[in-house]
Amino acid sequence: MKHLVSMKQLTNEQIHALLDRADTFKKDGIRELPGKYTVSNLFFEPSTRTKMSFEMAERKLGMDVLPFEAGFSSTLKGETLYDTVKTLEAIGVDTLVIRHPEDGYYEQLIERTNLSIVNAGDGSGQHPTQSLLDLFTIKEEFGTFEGLTVLIAGDIAHSRVARSNADALKNLGAKVIFLSPAEWAGEFNCVNRWDDVIGQCDVVMLLRVQHERHEGDVYFTKESYHAQYGLTEERAKQLQDHTIIMHPAPFNRGVEIADYLIESPKSRIFQQIENGVFIRAAVLETILTGRN
Ligand code: CP
Repeated sequence: MKHLVSMKQLTNEQIHALLDRADTFKKDGIRELPGKYTVSNLFFEPSTRTKMSFEMAERKLGMDVLPFEAGFSSTLKGETLYDTVKTLEAIGVDTLVIRHPEDGYYEQLIERTNLSIVNAGDGSGQHPTQSLLDLFTIKEEFGTFEGLTVLIAGDIAHSRVARSNADALKNLGAKVIFLSPAEWAGEFNCVNRWDDVIGQCDVVMLLRVQHERHEGDVYFTKESYHAQYGLTEERAKQLQDHTIIMHPAPFNRGVEIADYLIESPKSRIFQQIENGVFIRAAVLETILTGRN
């Protein structure tokens, strides 16, 4: 694997190999790579978890991390993404981790560069390392995907997390149900009443309401969204005993999820964040050493 840009490029076998490697890293620690590699993290959209956990993984792998600040780079002078990437390649960077607001930004890059690209989120397209850490967290909990029912609920139209997880979960044997207001259903077939599905699911994966992608459309107040489409404390009482709550974060407390539930016993949200370091180390190692 030279690049990781989409979950669609991965077979089930490749997914399981990455999850197994992340599991080894979690149990035994992240081992340094057998050579010296340089990486730069190009984030053209805000990030806390993805950027920091990539950097943590890179440091633990013994990589040189070349700092890049989009707001202080020549992109402000009109440099294109392609030219930024070619420049970093010429400087000697081996791998770029890129988050960019344009869907599929990587299409223009992967055939025209020699370095490796890891997609850390493209617009409303894909977020493969988030999907892998979600899958890792589910596998840690249940040991399998076969026969599980996963409910993905929220602002689905704008969610690269929903898109990345939907196909992967189905291919791995899970049943996926989507719940969303009609305005944010996108290309997905969604239910829009919690009561129809809440008792059936093993995993409830909530999505952030992505106000920054709504271009001024306001359909709900925070309170009305929470009452109609959020996981309220009252609704959570209908979950099965074994059901877990997930969210890629950042979360809007009291909007898509009740404040209390974020750190409740059913929540795996901070476990997801922890797992992000091991998954990102597994992805970088796989790309740089050709393991998979
Ligand atoms: N889940 C996620 O991508 O979070 P950040 O936007 O903080 O990276």
